[in-house]
Amino acid sequence: MGLSLELSQVSKTYNGQVILQDCSWVFEPGLTHVLKGPNGTGKSTLLRVCALLEAPDKGRVNYLAGGRPLALDLELKRRITLLLPNVGVFNTSVFNNVAYGLKIRGFERREIEARVGAILEVVGLADKKRQRALELSTGQSKRLGLARAMVLEPEVLFLDEPTASIDQENSEIIERIILEMQEKKRATIIMVTHDPAQAQRLGDRLLLIKNGRLFPSKA
Ligand SMILES: Nc1ncnc2c1ncn2[C@@H]1O[C@H](COP(=O)(O)OP(=O)(O)OP(=O)(O)O)[C@@H](O)[C@H]1O
Ligand SMILES: [Mg+2]
Repeated sequence: MGLSLELSQVSKTYNGQVILQDCSWVFEPGLTHVLKGPNGTGKSTLLRVCALLEAPDKGRVNYLAGGRPLALDLELKRRITLLLPNVGVFNTSVFNNVAYGLKIRGFERREIEARVGAILEVVGLADKKRQRALELSTGQSKRLGLARAMVLEPEVLFLDEPTASIDQENSEIIERIILEMQEKKRATIIMVTHDPAQAQRLGDRLLLIKNGRLFPSKA
């Protein structure tokens, strides 16, 4: 069903410059929240703060399950995943790239094989399983990144511009994967896009960051 995430008065400053200012929002579980805003307004920063990769200077980030706040510990961090815009692939096979997160979590070989196989089918890379990941096209690398995130079955999935700089066909494949995730309602999705039409297609809730502030947005 996904976890809910509550930001309360979150502020973040870099080198004396205020990037986020008093950002408050309740990200409801199981919904897709789409964040828009001009370049350099703090969207990626907000995702990193939400994903517990950086602490806010002020304010609080709270995760809740069934209304109860969770400790911000490693166990919680393993339930959330952030997919960056530029997927850094490891210099090994497509399979090993996707299997990595499961290996470090101690999953058994047979389960890893099954999960990775299934997720590569979902993202349309099953026939590339043994290929070196560095040889994938940009669009295929994006799908690999998505597979690497999805295979962990995160309860909150952050997607930072998942379809930036890729062609329409790959964008459509990625949107379809996100829509399928939404139908299963297993994850709360928080994504950034610069494409207003995509925001409309995918977003249950639309948000805008402007001058460091977070607002609800109609379109
Ligand atoms: N680690 C950092 N140290 C210093 N400044 C940073 C750091 N990370 C981000 N910034 C600055 O914070 C501002 C917001 O950056 P951020 O990457 O969050 O913007 P964005 O909204 O994601 O932009 P884009 O649409 O271009 O991806 C920028 O001015 C950036 O230079
Ligand atoms: Mg960004």
